[in-house]
Amino acid sequence: MFGGPYPWSFYRGQWTPLPPAPKGDYLKGKIVVITGATSGIGLEATKEFAKASPEQLILAVRSTDAGEKLLNEIRKLNPKVQGKVMYLDLTELQSVKDFSAAVKEFGRIDLLINNAGINPNFDEGPYVVTKDGYERTFQTNVLSTFLTTALLLPLLKQSSEPKVIFTGSDVHHIAPSDLIEGAIAIGQGIINAYNDESKYRNPTRYYESKQLLQMLSRTLIKRLPTITIINTNPGLAMTNLGREFNIGFSPRAIGGIIWFLLFARSAGKAARCLTTTAAWQGGSQDYWSEGVPAASENTYLYSGKGIRATQLFYDEMLKELEKISPECTTEL
Ligand SMILES: NC(=O)c1ccc[n+]([C@@H]2O[C@H](COP(=O)([O-])OP(=O)(O)OC[C@H]3O[C@@H](n4cnc5c(N)ncnc54)[C@H](OP(=O)(O)O)[C@@H]3O)[C@@H](O)[C@H]2O)c1
Repeated sequence: MFGGPYPWSFYRGQWTPLPPAPKGDYLKGKIVVITGATSGIGLEATKEFAKASPEQLILAVRSTDAGEKLLNEIRKLNPKVQGKVMYLDLTELQSVKDFSAAVKEFGRIDLLINNAGINPNFDEGPYVVTKDGYERTFQTNVLSTFLTTALLLPLLKQSSEPKVIFTGSDVHHIAPSDLIEGAIAIGQGIINAYNDESKYRNPTRYYESKQLLQMLSRTLIKRLPTITIINTNPGLAMTNLGREFNIGFSPRAIGGIIWFLLFARSAGKAARCLTTTAAWQGGSQDYWSEGVPAASENTYLYSGKGIRATQLFYDEMLKELEKISPECTTEL
């Protein structure tokens, strides 16, 4: 039973002892950008990165006060650390553009960690649209994450060992593909389908966002062979990701809390899924779990339909990015 596929692989993974956090100066001379550094996995990973002697640690955060507080804290861990807090809100495309323009002052980026993300809950919930007109989870977890990467590509290309990490999730294994296939069948476009309120399903939106991120990272691995690209799963972790969950006190909710406490790892342990990728000297990995390269169990993505959808989605995303920031996809 425990040798079986998801969800058994999930339980196996959560019980697998993780490799220790890497030690030493593995970030020496590196300019590192991490999004969502002020909470959960990003916060714990940032504290570890501060110990690894980065040349510069750039905290791309939506609360600059929380970012400055963290920077003061990490200066206690490593008084020599050079850090900078910069504003980035993924629900505002202009903020992504402004951040990417401002970070040019550093001349290059060696490591970009796209960690920020949201989970709108696994129960029913409202369709929320950003002021840019995109469904909020799609924009935060997929569109703005991809835009950040595209806009920082010229700086990554200035590095002798560029690396991009996407924070994915094992729930991409079980993401439904019917929205994608339905959109292709009627020529609606995958992006349009994800922004179509009449097709919005809150319970699976998080899974689907991480599936779309898998599709993008797989394509980027092929398109950008000189950049190490890794999509890492931190595993179920005790963070603030469930901040929008309406838990209540029903027997189901209490069962859910007990299940979570039994299986979730600490944010510090989950952060090892970022620190191990940061220290990794091998090449790109389209999936990384329990601190090591792993195989995705999403059979749709390996199927003919999934491969076609992955290409179509990537092409759509390039066109969308061009509308948002002309000429930002020339190297993609
Ligand atoms: N926890 C899990 O079980 C789990 C499992 C698999 C994957 N993940 C992934 O791990 C990553 C980190 O999540 P976490 O668990 O550490 O959750 P978290 O504690 O909620 O941290 C998420 C971070 O993302 C930032 N963020 C959210 N929306 C943003 C926006 N619009 N613009 C900029 N930053 C934004 C948050 O900023 P604030 O600090 O200002 O709130 C926070 O720092 C996410 O990509 C998540 O999907 C988590």
